Amino acid sequence: MESSALLTVVLAGVFLWISAIHAVTNDNGELLCTCENNKGTCENGTCRGDYCFYTWVHGREEWGCFTKVNSREQCSTSFERFYVYCCLGEKCNRFATPPPNIRGPTTAPPAPPRPEVVWVTVSLLLLFLICGVSGLVLYLRFRRGTCRPKDAEDHDVAMLKVPSGDDPTYGEIFDEFCTSGSGTGLPYLVQRTMARQISLAECVGKGRYGEVWRGTWMGESVAVKIFSSRDEQSWFRETEIYNTVQLRHDNILGFIASDMTSKNSSTQLWLVTHFHELGSLYDFLQYSSLEPESCLRMCLSVACGLVHLHTEIVSSQEKPAIAHRDLKSRNILVKRNGQCCIADLGLAVIHSQSHDYLDVGNNPRVGTKRYMAPEVLDETIRVDIFESYKQTDIWALGLVFWEISRRTIVNGIVEEYRPPFFDVVPSDPSFEEMKKVVCVDQQKPSLHNRLHSHPILTAIVKLMKECWYQNPSARLTALRVRKTLSKLDHDDFSIEKLKQDV
Ligand code: ADE
Repeated sequence: MESSALLTVVLAGVFLWISAIHAVTNDNGELLCTCENNKGTCENGTCRGDYCFYTWVHGREEWGCFTKVNSREQCSTSFERFYVYCCLGEKCNRFATPPPNIRGPTTAPPAPPRPEVVWVTVSLLLLFLICGVSGLVLYLRFRRGTCRPKDAEDHDVAMLKVPSGDDPTYGEIFDEFCTSGSGTGLPYLVQRTMARQISLAECVGKGRYGEVWRGTWMGESVAVKIFSSRDEQSWFRETEIYNTVQLRHDNILGFIASDMTSKNSSTQLWLVTHFHELGSLYDFLQYSSLEPESCLRMCLSVACGLVHLHTEIVSSQEKPAIAHRDLKSRNILVKRNGQCCIADLGLAVIHSQSHDYLDVGNNPRVGTKRYMAPEVLDETIRVDIFESYKQTDIWALGLVFWEISRRTIVNGIVEEYRPPFFDVVPSDPSFEEMKKVVCVDQQKPSLHNRLHSHPILTAIVKLMKECWYQNPSARLTALRVRKTLSKLDHDDFSIEKLKQDV
């Protein structure tokens, strides 16, 4: 209904505009003017042109037509003893006469509006009218289609209500905005309102970055990351990315809201996301061991998330390519379904080939040294090429797979959780310590023999090694890793099948 009303208004406006133009012109768009003393195209006292004119030059009068080509300078010319009058309208020059003071010393009468100016003014007025009416129609439509407050006092709460009668989940609110045309995050005012309705329940993580809390919003758990003031650039970057890029994906941490508040003259920066009670992959691996199928599921899900980040989408749902730059088990969360999702986009770089830009941001933070690729440690990385950043993510992806595989039971054997390079660098290694191991000695994490006894782990070991080439461009792409793992996922590795194969 509203769209057809809008269309009618626009068409009516266009019709009005065309009619206005047509009213003063003939079929060829030319005006009929009075002409006299004119040596040009005068026939029976009339002529046709773009403008009518009257001139008085040293007492000699002339009436006639101008064409667009020469009218501009002519119409704006008015001197002592020289007078030009232009007009737009049928025979509008008919009764023109020189002003009384034309023979006076200097003053010329005010120049009549130039024909182009008249056209532009009329056109603009009509356009404003059309835009105004269309805007009004759109405003009314938007107000009705989304979140109109029920009354002023209830403003913030009512804005978040959905018509079902039950309290909405944040997923429902998000879906409503997505289907009503908003491609990325919720409108800022809604984000702010949601964030301010959260009660913080318990702190679930603390680090240099700040703190992570479990909070509740409308009875649902949410995660609230409170950024330390020295890491505000990460908050800005992550907020920017979640609000501008379509990042809804099963294997990317789901964004709910960002909020900046001022408390006792200090700024609080919040990022509200989905809450995953199993915590980070790092936490999870401390106390859990996995079957090979669960290991595969986890590795595949991380690869799927990374493919989504790394891939530019060129369509109506367009998305630039993103490289993470701080991929590690602490920045991956474990979901109840055994899949993982990638978190922390505070250091990410954005690239679009179709729009021809590379945005590396201006965050002074660097990635985690333990996970740094050789080209980052020896500073040979080509920082102006987006591929370079994806290649460093792949190095880190191999290390994450290594952490998962250590905790995978094969032949009844499983290793304790250890971080990558635990046996060759101290905890919180320096840049130089990492560089010696990774660049000078070119060491790779060691792989337990048991892993070669299971087809899934054998394949994952092969993938890891192909993520760890010193030469960045020799490494696999995330897409290749995902495809190989997907294929494994479809293979049948049941005991029965393996027995049959022997
Ligand atoms: N730790 C960091 N982020 C988290 C989240 N979204 N859910 C649970 N624990 C977390």
